[in-house]
Amino acid sequence: MFLVTGAAGGLGKRIVRQLRDQEQPVRAFVRLTSRYNELERRGAEIFIGDLTQERDIQRSLQDIQFVISAHGSNEASGGAQALDYRANIDLIDQAKAAGVQHFTLISVLGADRDYEDAPVFKAKAAVEKYLKASGLNYTILRPSGFASNLLPLAEQFRKTGVYLLVGDPRTRTSIISTDDLAKLAIASATTPAAHGQTFNVGGPEILERGEIANIFARIFKKEPILINPPLLAIDGLRAAIGFLNPGLKASLGTFRTLLANEFYTTPAEVEQLEAVYGIQLETVESFLRRYLTV
Ligand SMILES: NC(=O)c1ccc[n+]([C@@H]2O[C@H](COP(=O)([O-])OP(=O)(O)OC[C@H]3O[C@@H](n4cnc5c(N)ncnc54)[C@H](OP(=O)(O)O)[C@@H]3O)[C@@H](O)[C@H]2O)c1
Repeated sequence: MFLVTGAAGGLGKRIVRQLRDQEQPVRAFVRLTSRYNELERRGAEIFIGDLTQERDIQRSLQDIQFVISAHGSNEASGGAQALDYRANIDLIDQAKAAGVQHFTLISVLGADRDYEDAPVFKAKAAVEKYLKASGLNYTILRPSGFASNLLPLAEQFRKTGVYLLVGDPRTRTSIISTDDLAKLAIASATTPAAHGQTFNVGGPEILERGEIANIFARIFKKEPILINPPLLAIDGLRAAIGFLNPGLKASLGTFRTLLANEFYTTPAEVEQLEAVYGIQLETVESFLRRYLTV
């Protein structure tokens, strides 16, 4: 049986959907406040718990062969220290103790770049190191931005024609289809060539962020209105927030890092992924067209 953490999240719910489509047994680790009705309807076993509680992690691992760590932090959930770092360390320790056969970690593209001001990146880097040394059989996937993040922006564009882009529109990215990433996360458990490996995971094309407005324009047949404040706007906001909420200021550091840097995979990395997993990765436009009814 698979255990999926963050099972009600953008990635986690897609992992659970695909596992249930394959009629595989899956335990979905959710919170009482999570939106998990759909997962239950699809036949997932719902485990209600809190990843900041080691006892819940231990209980969730009973009779589990494969773990997919797909949870993540936000301000409301305790931040990078508690969720991206501590909860993963506990999950690895308890998975080892429970004799789990394989552990897939969803990390982040750039985890190895030593960004000092980005708590999520630092947490992922430390957890990657811990997992590699744990003795567990593992696969680490380091994805770029998720295509599903664009869906609310696309809906906004549909209504207003506006695309808000903070920072340099020429910054490059290779956004990954969230459904493809879910496929890779599941297949990692049973793909020997993926065991003990770390993969950078991006979509098949390198886009400048400004091109996303053109993709929306093609889908909705509407001229884009690009609103493009500079990164300095985020810096000003951070400085102001820092007085009132130091925790939020720290997590905005991760956000700023995402906006200020390039996150793309090389054609050689994409080719390697497709060869190891035997799949063809879809483009952002293909992902969006499958979800958006025009
Ligand atoms: N989104 C991206 O572009 C991106 C890019 C690279 C890497 N990643 C990584 O990919 C993973 C999945 O990202 P995502 O966008 O799918 O995340 P997401 O939609 O924000 O989902 C995160 C999930 O974690 C759960 N969670 C938070 N605190 C919890 C707690 N204390 N106990 C139990 N569950 C808790 C949340 O539960 P609730 O549903 O109850 O809130 C939520 O379902 C994360 O590790 C993220 O760092 C994301």
